[in-house]
Amino acid sequence: MIGRLNHVAIVVPDLASAMKMYSDTLGAKVSDMVDQPAHGVTTVFIDLPNTKIELLRPLGDNSPVANFLARNPSGGIHHICYEVEDILAARDRLVAAGARVLGDGAPKIGAHNKPVLFLHPKDFCGTLIELEQV
Ligand code: CO
Repeated sequence: MIGRLNHVAIVVPDLASAMKMYSDTLGAKVSDMVDQPAHGVTTVFIDLPNTKIELLRPLGDNSPVANFLARNPSGGIHHICYEVEDILAARDRLVAAGARVLGDGAPKIGAHNKPVLFLHPKDFCGTLIELEQV
């Protein structure tokens, strides 16, 4: 059911220094910073030949990544995103298998303007999983 690894998201305390580390130290192609007020994050994308890294930092008062950063002050891997062809079919299959979908279970439009869902980390080896319909 799941397809390609779309991205790995890393929450960082200092986006500018993380961008510099990826561009200068690791030699990667790094996008500009984009504030995503609807998602409570500022994002930067690192383009790799086979996937993307999404650097995130909290934006605003109710950021979904603020607690993560409080628990992991130097940053860390926050979620991984797998591509699916049909997000509603994927959700129904997962719910039928007993997995928990976060929120109200309805796909939201994610940071890439595609429908996404998040799955409870306790059901997936301690990893927060994002599904994105591509
Ligand atoms: Co993501």
